[in-house]
Amino acid sequence: MPGLGDATRGRVLFGGDYNPEQWPEETWHEDVRLMKDAGVNSVTLGVFSWAKLEPRPGERDFGWLDRLMDLLHEGGIGVVLATPTSSPPPWLGHLHPETLPRDEDGRVEWWGGRQHFSHSSAVYRRYAAAITEDLAARYGGHPALTMWHINNEYCTYDWGDEAAARFRDWLRTRYGTLDALNSAWGTAFWSQGYGAWEEVLPPRHAHYLKNPGQVLDFKRFTSDMLLECYVAERDIVRRHSPAHIPVTTNFMPLWAGQDAWRWAEEEDVVSVDLYPDPRDPFGAQHGALVQDMTRSQARGPWMLMEQAAGPVNWRGVNHPKPRGLNRLWSLQAVARGADAVCYFQWRQSRQGAEKFHSGMVPHAGEEGRTFQEIKQIGAELARLAHRVTGSHVDCDIAILHDWHSWWAGSHEGRLSTEVDHPQLLTAWHRALWQAHLATDFAHPEHDLTAYKLVVVPHSYALTDAAIDNLLSYVRGGGTLVCGFLTGVADQDDRVRPGGMDARLRALLGIRTLHEWWPLDEDETAETDRFRGILWSEEIDPAEDASVEAVYKGGELDGLPAVLRNGRAWYVSTLPEPHALRALLAGIAAEAGVRPVLDGLPDQVEAVRRGDLLFLLNHGREAVAVEVPGSRHDLLTGAQVGGEVMLGRYGVAVLAP
Ligand code: GAL
Repeated sequence: MPGLGDATRGRVLFGGDYNPEQWPEETWHEDVRLMKDAGVNSVTLGVFSWAKLEPRPGERDFGWLDRLMDLLHEGGIGVVLATPTSSPPPWLGHLHPETLPRDEDGRVEWWGGRQHFSHSSAVYRRYAAAITEDLAARYGGHPALTMWHINNEYCTYDWGDEAAARFRDWLRTRYGTLDALNSAWGTAFWSQGYGAWEEVLPPRHAHYLKNPGQVLDFKRFTSDMLLECYVAERDIVRRHSPAHIPVTTNFMPLWAGQDAWRWAEEEDVVSVDLYPDPRDPFGAQHGALVQDMTRSQARGPWMLMEQAAGPVNWRGVNHPKPRGLNRLWSLQAVARGADAVCYFQWRQSRQGAEKFHSGMVPHAGEEGRTFQEIKQIGAELARLAHRVTGSHVDCDIAILHDWHSWWAGSHEGRLSTEVDHPQLLTAWHRALWQAHLATDFAHPEHDLTAYKLVVVPHSYALTDAAIDNLLSYVRGGGTLVCGFLTGVADQDDRVRPGGMDARLRALLGIRTLHEWWPLDEDETAETDRFRGILWSEEIDPAEDASVEAVYKGGELDGLPAVLRNGRAWYVSTLPEPHALRALLAGIAAEAGVRPVLDGLPDQVEAVRRGDLLFLLNHGREAVAVEVPGSRHDLLTGAQVGGEVMLGRYGVAVLAP
């Protein structure tokens, strides 16, 4: 299987989505000049080119792309070539309305935007395969080609009739019999028992709460259908290209619609699009979380497929990046394992829905600050490349996350809509990030033995295999910390007897879990050690468990808030941020996990990648960092030791 290494050949890929069809051909030559000036070595071409490549059904216009591929190759710029299948031309929907998806109310998603295709439509899949086949046959051997990019941000749902038929096929494969489906979905409730497959539908608009099993399976089905679309195109491009050309599709961070653990197994390179809000005080931590997740899915170097050089255009108010922030966040991605730093998009559009979204070449042109900063980043990445590419980030801590559990745990009939899986992941990751502890993410069934500490912010549904895995992890010497709502349900979202799997209760030192006591938005639960938010629980501890914090006052007065049973911990509320940080840092220290560097100022993040130490100042104020020994700063060329000064948004990349 090729990895990113074959595409980078020792360089950090640097560039972005290039949409030359929006510009006259003279501009292409200007583009290549500017790309060379900025150290761009990679562009992603053709993401939205279907209408240009196939102006009428079955016709092909490759002439313009031939000229471009040659031009880029002459300029020494590699091409990540996209299949254009995420935005079908208007003629497809016009001739074949059945290719258009429908929402849960039955409304059609028309052309005029993008991503108006049904993953289940046989006609869509046929046309997508045909254009992919011809594109791959023509360019699979082109010397400019470095990677294939399939579709773009797969994210559509479809509740229409063809999707309903595919859903039934998918369910037949999963369950075999209607009896098994009725059992998994618990259809004895509310008279929902199915007597014939034809009666089964996607969870369309309904009067009141929908069947949670049906909703859960529809999410699984959607992820699988989109994956089928990806795999079909991937297999076509692979047939036409040399074995070293990798294939990817770009993920959206923590996107609910795709089981990205499963998807990553089908990719040669895992890539992600990342757009933290420049005004978000925790933008850097959001970036770190997504980067940790993507690196874990890739099990090594990964690709930052898209970020913004300045503002995006899809928030309510879209702020530019202050001077230095683009560089800082780009180097943060490299520190956390990225071997590619790319943008949406190369040249800012003058028309269309994204004309106010930044580009590497802004409306202000090459004199613009944005382009000047891009040039600096390009030059610095070139300087770092030979030392970073291919190297790994090692972590002693894993944070568990699984899409199926997220889906099951977000059903509308849950006890508190305040409980939100991404927010809980973020809270726990943030606590560890602020304590300067490096984290991977892992699936609950992954091999966890390499980690000293495993934390479980919110794994509401756990399979028997996952529970076995956690038990044997702790038996083998690992330290485990579980948050509330761990292991409540099985893979069908059936509540386990006792409200939590019995073996997990024994592991965590819980004798009886009497009631869950969710908290209102502004409510807190006092304990003798900290304040909890969001949730609390009425628990009796097992005899040999030690109570590490107790609720104070209210209905739960005197009951355990935090329990410990040997190396297994249970936290029945969400401690306030500083308390969660202190709790996890203490447990990590006891488990033998060290911070990346001791004595770091709050605003500085330190990351080790291979033998390099990255220091990233997320603050606007300059700051001094104590670094033991003498090291070489790869960015400045200076020898540094003792105290390293980092300016506003400053970065040092230190080699031994
Ligand atoms: C991504 C997408 C790009 C562009 C970008 C704008 O989601 O892949 O095509 O729309 O967002 O931020």
